[in-house]
Amino acid sequence: MDKVDIKAVKFDAEKDLKEAKDLADLVVIERKYLGKGGMIAMVFGTLQDLEKEERGQVGKEANELKGFLEEEIRVKKAAFSSSDFGNKKIDITAPGKKMSLGHLHPITLAIRKAVEIFQGMGFEVVEGPEIENEFYNFDALNVPADHPARDLWDTFWLKDQKMLLRTHMSPVQARYMEENKPPLRIIAPGKVFRYEATDASHDFEFYQIEGLMVDKTISVANFKAIMEEFFSRFFNKKIKIRLRPSFFPFVEPGFEVDMSCLTCGGKGCPACKRTGWLEVMGAGMVHPNVYKACGLVPRDWQGFAFGMGLDRLAMMKYRINDIRLFRSGNLKFLDQF
Ligand code: PHE
Repeated sequence: MDKVDIKAVKFDAEKDLKEAKDLADLVVIERKYLGKGGMIAMVFGTLQDLEKEERGQVGKEANELKGFLEEEIRVKKAAFSSSDFGNKKIDITAPGKKMSLGHLHPITLAIRKAVEIFQGMGFEVVEGPEIENEFYNFDALNVPADHPARDLWDTFWLKDQKMLLRTHMSPVQARYMEENKPPLRIIAPGKVFRYEATDASHDFEFYQIEGLMVDKTISVANFKAIMEEFFSRFFNKKIKIRLRPSFFPFVEPGFEVDMSCLTCGGKGCPACKRTGWLEVMGAGMVHPNVYKACGLVPRDWQGFAFGMGLDRLAMMKYRINDIRLFRSGNLKFLDQF
């Protein structure tokens, strides 16, 4: 047999060891070099044909290589078995992968907060259809067909001109009052639609929360107390409100409600255009014609109704400057909540 080049065997063995990926590879390598009929055995097999001097030299080198390979394979085997996880190496020092959890939309957070506060004050939550008819959206609310007030709410009419997308949450209150006699205390949170151009503070689809409280002697003073309590709890801050005369066909008297500025507390700052007040909602004492339309005798009942934009409340609470972000699907925005 030809003389075996030990250096070449060592070179090959080192390369094989370097490329070994798992325990199975090591078993193959072990057999190839150290096994019966393996490379080392072959070297020993050639010794008898060598000159005495050379035999000693080659024998020594072959023994060294054998010892070297046995040690290398042992070390590598140990390394593979400790980090061999189903034959896949894992780096236990690598940073973990962050699991992304779902979360609630800021509008949902605002609705839940508002509902929790009103429920705490004895209000019941009611729902109604997003596709409404003209009667509940307008007529029952004292908005006659030819009344210019109907223009206040630019309406999305459905094809037959009889149904529409509700423009406010008041129809839900009319529906409820038709079915339930006072005393009553309800809130109606939900989505409303208006046919109008969008900008940073207007969208054609948004959320409102409307409320209604009716009994024998419910007054504007009750309304003020309840709203100040609501806003103070919603914004975690002592809030005052003020009423300005205004017009809504379903209330008399009607008013716009302002609350003390969240930023300056009423002193006047750029956020409130130096007035100390922020406009937050419409309200008023339920109009006699609304009681009539719902089958009640107006003389028997007295109460208030109010309606506010939930998007606007959420914008104030979370300091968001563009209403369109809510429905943008922009994750950079949404993931902050
Ligand atoms: N429905 C009115 C709107 O959408 C709000 C409102 C409700 C005003 C109740 C007064 C009383 O603008």
